[in-house]
Amino acid sequence: MREFGSADVYGLRSLDVERLRERRGAKWMSRPADYAAWVADMDFEVAPPISAALHELIDRHELGYPNWGGPYALSPAAKAFVRRMSDRYGWDADVDRVHDLVDVLQGVRAVVHHRSEPGDGVVLHMPAYFPFIDGIETMGRRRVDVEWCGDGFDYDDLERRLADRGARIWILCHPHNPLGHVFERAELERIADIAARFDLVVVSDEVHADLTLPGAVHVPFASLGPDVAARTVTVSSASKAFNLAGLRWAVLHAGEEELHDILASLPGHYLGAPNLFGVTAAVAAWTQGDAWLAALIDVLDENRLLLTELLDRHLPGACYRPPSATYLAWVDCRGCRLGDEPAEVFRERGVELSAGPQFGPSGVGHVRINLATSPAILSDMVAAMGG
Ligand SMILES: Cc1ncc(COP(=O)(O)O)c(C=O)c1O
Repeated sequence: MREFGSADVYGLRSLDVERLRERRGAKWMSRPADYAAWVADMDFEVAPPISAALHELIDRHELGYPNWGGPYALSPAAKAFVRRMSDRYGWDADVDRVHDLVDVLQGVRAVVHHRSEPGDGVVLHMPAYFPFIDGIETMGRRRVDVEWCGDGFDYDDLERRLADRGARIWILCHPHNPLGHVFERAELERIADIAARFDLVVVSDEVHADLTLPGAVHVPFASLGPDVAARTVTVSSASKAFNLAGLRWAVLHAGEEELHDILASLPGHYLGAPNLFGVTAAVAAWTQGDAWLAALIDVLDENRLLLTELLDRHLPGACYRPPSATYLAWVDCRGCRLGDEPAEVFRERGVELSAGPQFGPSGVGHVRINLATSPAILSDMVAAMGG
């Protein structure tokens, strides 16, 4: 038994499934199921400092234009990002290269749009978070896959493909969704070396960095050195680790000069302006949210191990490697004889998961399970999956 700890203080272990079923957001409401573990939103209540900061805005009726030092001034959340990167990860981001965004995907799309042409290659670790796949396709770029081989990615194969047809961009999902893989320094150095030799711009999506679990360490890609930073665009947000996806604020650091110049030359309002609620929540999260985040990490650590036991008990034949980061579990159900689309079978059993094939061809027979719920709900849910 675990000791009574801060996760209990924040109520992270004592969620009421009936109350979750009354929630109006996409996760619980858009699909009729007994259990919802698909989209990357968490079931936990908002961290108290964030809740207090948002309530304060309303209580003081401060919902007009904010005072951040001018109409196009950088938001305080973007400045908090720079401080957090230095304090938590030892990376000295350049505040003059930081841009406010509406969301993380906006940044990824901007890099692909401005730094490549239709027909150019975009490198992607597969399986991949599906908006990356979809963005490459709808923007007319060519996907250059790096496949997961069970215990690592096949970079030799990637190099052969790059030697053959080249590419312009590498979308690095770091930590990786859906695998929960944390790229360690040696692997990042190999990526940096390939990117330099084939002259690729790397867009490093680090939105899951704060969800790095015990045993792993997050190394910002741009922190590898000045040459690496000069070809890297980093995107991030407080939205995943603090469950703020609806508040629509994110941040971009353009180490790569050309992209910075393009973004800096856009007329004000062209990309909209930062959302006051999103900025306020991100500042509270990154300056006062670490006690809550530590409690969250405890529960996620517990759940990733619990899932191994639950799968053994209820879904023998399922194969799963606990994530080193994120609250997402990538589960290979091919040994369970549930067909190519096990998510359909689980849906009939009342559990809504993310279907593996969305994440690319290697996702056939897989599902992605969202572990960001209480251990009790996770247990009931996996029992339901067992039928
Ligand atoms: C790796 C990754 N990037 C981006 C996003 C989406 O972020 P946003 O809603 O800020 O675009 C997600 C959401 O789950 C994600 O997992």
